[in-house]
Amino acid sequence: MENVENKDNAWSSRIGFIFAAAGSAVGLGNIWRLPYLVSKHGGGTFLFLYLLFSFTIALSVLIAEFTIGRYCGAPVISNLRKKIKGSFIVSKLIYIYPLALIFLLSFYFVVSGWTLFYFCKSIIGAINYSHADTAYYTSIFNNLLVSPYTIIGFTILFVLLTGIVVYIGISGIEKINFIMLPLIFILLTIVIIKVLTLDGSMSGIKYIFSFDPKFINREAITDALGQSFFALSLGSGTMLVFASYAQKNYNIKFSAIQTTNFGVGVGIFSTFLIIPAAFAFNVDINSGAGLTFITLPVIFSSLPLGVAFAAAFFLVMVMAALTSTISVLEVCAVFLADALKISKKAAIIIFTIFFIVVGSVQALSFGIFSHIRIFGQNTFDFANMMVNFLLVVGGILSCAIAGWLISKKDLYNEITNNGLIAFKSFTVWRGMVKFIIPFVIVCIYIFSN
Ligand code: PHE
Repeated sequence: MENVENKDNAWSSRIGFIFAAAGSAVGLGNIWRLPYLVSKHGGGTFLFLYLLFSFTIALSVLIAEFTIGRYCGAPVISNLRKKIKGSFIVSKLIYIYPLALIFLLSFYFVVSGWTLFYFCKSIIGAINYSHADTAYYTSIFNNLLVSPYTIIGFTILFVLLTGIVVYIGISGIEKINFIMLPLIFILLTIVIIKVLTLDGSMSGIKYIFSFDPKFINREAITDALGQSFFALSLGSGTMLVFASYAQKNYNIKFSAIQTTNFGVGVGIFSTFLIIPAAFAFNVDINSGAGLTFITLPVIFSSLPLGVAFAAAFFLVMVMAALTSTISVLEVCAVFLADALKISKKAAIIIFTIFFIVVGSVQALSFGIFSHIRIFGQNTFDFANMMVNFLLVVGGILSCAIAGWLISKKDLYNEITNNGLIAFKSFTVWRGMVKFIIPFVIVCIYIFSN
């Protein structure tokens, strides 16, 4: 895994690299998190902010992370120390990345567990898809949240599944993505078409396109910024590690654009599915983290062959979540192995055990542990908030490394494959990464209210 020269571990092709990166990017962040953030912040206004940040700030940071990763090569952390100026401080600061990832996985495994629950229950016929009754599906979700054994069981199952795949080795995950990514778009498209024919769905579409400056406040802006990093796995070292396995002839800029298109595309499709459907079926638009999980079954119940759609859709969600958790656990293990000078396999085992414990605690944060509050929030929402913040801080670090600590010549040569690939906006991009993005982000955090 640590050696690019080892054919098994580098991505098998350029497209393979894009699919691996897109597989990490496309996950519950796009399918589950974006729709509920859109509804939390009043609809289109949030979507506008999210798209703005995604195609300016996030895309630029992704290009920076791909470039740093491939410039250093695997193993990325020790190479970072060797190749980057000021590496003493940098080698300490990069622990922001795994810190963000630990917070992330702590709740991500729980939501992944929800998807596994819905998949298993759908396939064994324990959820009835033959009548559309919003109250019934709402109660399934609410019961799940307060059933300690079920929810812990599915969370642990997902942690183990991830641990085993990462232990065996991640080469080949791009092959899962070759099937999963097109399948997501196909399923989403079919179901969206159905939803748009329903009475009431147009109010949802109007809501998605609505723009009202009164919704632009500090929380909406930081949520949109955080989500644009979350959805593309930025600020977490993930894309750095992935790119360190990439070969020297891949086109970084093109790969970054495609990865962004995939990530943002799935998010937009999901939003156009969940929100209009929630309007059509009178699902409470403020259901928060439950919005996607309550709305989807209601949609399936309105379709012919609802069970088949439910099983297929939840399976795709499980796969999307799994390709993301795999990438995160892989990166956590890379960091731990480097810090403790232990083997990566040992690090994977340690993290798997760690997440079984932490994931179980988080799984109960809506039920018997809901009284545990940090800054007024349950531990699930607190971790969610920390991730938003830490990914952005990690993103600034990536900008600092690319913009300030790698020479302009090296940076140019890495992105353009020594001049073979044109990058006309190189100077603009480098200016963004070096000055504009860190400045804008700091201003957002200091001045927005
Ligand atoms: N991008 C993933 C998603 O949208 C989450 C993720 C964030 C994965 C950061 C890796 C690192 O679900």
